Amino acid sequence: MSTDDSTRVALAFSGGLDTTVCVPLLTEEYGYDEVIGVTVDVGQPPAEFDEAEETAAALDLEHYVVDARSAFADLCFDAVKANADYQGYPLGTALARPVIAEAILEVANAHDCDALAHGCTGKGNDQLRFEAVWRGSDLEVIAPVRELGLTREWEIDYAAERDLPVEAGNEGVWSIDQNLWSRAVEGGELEDPSYIPPEEIYEWTAAPAGETTVAVTFEAGVPVAVDGEALPPVELIEHLNEYAGGYGVGRTDVMEDRILGLKVRENYEHPAATVLLTAHRALEDLVLTKEERRVKRGIEDEWAEKAYEGLVFAPVVDALEGFIDSTQDVVTGTATLRLQGGQCRVVARESDHAVYSEEMASFNTETVAGIDQDDATGVAKYHGLQDRLANAVARKHE
Ligand code: ARG
Repeated sequence: MSTDDSTRVALAFSGGLDTTVCVPLLTEEYGYDEVIGVTVDVGQPPAEFDEAEETAAALDLEHYVVDARSAFADLCFDAVKANADYQGYPLGTALARPVIAEAILEVANAHDCDALAHGCTGKGNDQLRFEAVWRGSDLEVIAPVRELGLTREWEIDYAAERDLPVEAGNEGVWSIDQNLWSRAVEGGELEDPSYIPPEEIYEWTAAPAGETTVAVTFEAGVPVAVDGEALPPVELIEHLNEYAGGYGVGRTDVMEDRILGLKVRENYEHPAATVLLTAHRALEDLVLTKEERRVKRGIEDEWAEKAYEGLVFAPVVDALEGFIDSTQDVVTGTATLRLQGGQCRVVARESDHAVYSEEMASFNTETVAGIDQDDATGVAKYHGLQDRLANAVARKHE
């Protein structure tokens, strides 16, 4: 335990190169007496926790692991209600960061820390997403990699000099960020947008082959069952990642506009997100009115933009969710999707709340509830009236 006047910093710790070099730097360069490492579980692969534990032990670092998977899954389901994607990316990394930042802040407060630190560079989005949460506290915020202008080469030399527990090669060619909602792969040759991603970058998705159908059931906009089997959020997402991933569903390759303005090439895998977003949209198509669908699209873009920025706690997001939630009571039912050729498309939908009358829409019925075809004649006379008038006026001035 620290004595009362010793200073402590809580570091977002993954056990990778960046956060490993941060440990000695926080005492030597920043003068903190003690560093504690915090790793937050948002569904990373188990090997990452082993790496974090082993590295922490080798560094003699006091280390905590916090399980935030359930809170994260709930946020992912908020994203489903918002049909959220940013430039085709279902926002896995972006949604995870505020959850991680909150969890680290709690640990820091519980251990009387004076400061919070992360290992993000000055080029990416994550520095902004972490700090947007942390700067709401009284604790000091430190970003050694950014503030000291560290490069990878410098970090590798420094780690070798200090004999830090960084295994040569454990960082690999690609930079990967994986959680329950998506797996992001960047760096190496992928930095060239004309380079075609090799099959080896994919871990969640098989090369597209085979075909199947999958049915997702929703209650008030929230996914509750797959193929009739009720599953809690974390398990439901894990199941769909595995099942749909087996059919090659959920790969995207996007040119992404980062918050700071940099355009970067990102590859993602997100089978569950693709299935759930497709099914949710399909069900909304059945149960919402045209106006609700149209207005909601604009709301969804705003939600996704704030989520991308790591600002899901913003008051405007609550306001947007007020609208979103008011539309979701009727999003109860089941959508069935065909998974084929790496694609996922709706093939059937059903709901007790369908804004649909087969009788009215059918080609086979003449008159329904006192309305007959000829009633549309008057409407047809007016349809486009103003446009015809405007064009006639314009022609006069030609
Ligand atoms: N570009 C994405 C984002 O900012 C994901 C970044 C993932 N990081 C990685 N090392 N691949 O949300």
